Amino acid sequence: MKNVTAPPGSTLTLDNGTERMTVDLYSREGLDLLSNLSLKAGAEHRVMYEPTWLGRPIIQFPNDIVAIQELLWQVRPDVVVETGVAHGGSLILSASILELIGKGKVVAVDIDIRAHNRVAIEAHPLAHRVELIQGSSIADDTMAAVRRAVGDAETVLVFLDSNHSEAHVFRELELYGALVTPGSYLVAHDGAQAWVSDIPRGKPEWKSDHPLAAIYRFISLHPEFSIEQHWTRFGTTSSPDGWLKKAGQRSLGS
Ligand SMILES: C[S@@+](CC[C@H](N)C(=O)[O-])C[C@H]1O[C@@H](n2cnc3c(N)ncnc32)[C@H](O)[C@@H]1O
Repeated sequence: MKNVTAPPGSTLTLDNGTERMTVDLYSREGLDLLSNLSLKAGAEHRVMYEPTWLGRPIIQFPNDIVAIQELLWQVRPDVVVETGVAHGGSLILSASILELIGKGKVVAVDIDIRAHNRVAIEAHPLAHRVELIQGSSIADDTMAAVRRAVGDAETVLVFLDSNHSEAHVFRELELYGALVTPGSYLVAHDGAQAWVSDIPRGKPEWKSDHPLAAIYRFISLHPEFSIEQHWTRFGTTSSPDGWLKKAGQRSLGS
């Protein structure tokens, strides 16, 4: 990476072909613009496919990995439910924090758990904290298996990261939101799909079909959930407005 000279008073100009905007580099606006552009350029270069967690590829921006760690350490869930396994990095991240806390398990759902990923997850030193369920995250039999795995756990936290269409995420929010215990969280990843439809590798349909639309519809119907901005304060994130807290007191026993 090359360093540039940018003393106080430097400005940042974005010319997108139809409009030009200039902001003070060191203003809050400047940081917000840089974060948004870093999301777009990072997504173009597939930066979120770069990290690994304890040996497993995780499809998240580093900022979101730090926020997930903070959230798990704060909530100390007995069960973490995740939709979207891919290579297993996110479920190993959750399992590693649960291991340090000293309790809990991850129940992870994917429509297609590839054989090599299953082998690697089941051979991982944290496999004892992981339960894999194969099936569509919104199918009745999958939900029955998830509910059995969750049982009557005192504190349940959910991460949704599977199919990112509005319809699918909305159904997931309805189904999995009901599992979240009071004071815990429902995290819907990848709302930033809406913000990267305009990048070179973006798809025009992402502009109207994305998790953010599902999140806003869900929130309007479920006042018990509210968006917390705290978890996206680092700037670049895949999941703007995706960190939803369920009202109520967390059990003191957990
Ligand atoms: C973005 S990846 C998950 C990334 C993972 N959470 C991580 O952070 O490393 C999305 C995954 O969702 C799965 N998926 C797609 N549609 C699904 C569905 N209807 N139900 C469950 N999983 C689905 C895909 O097979 C894929 O493995």
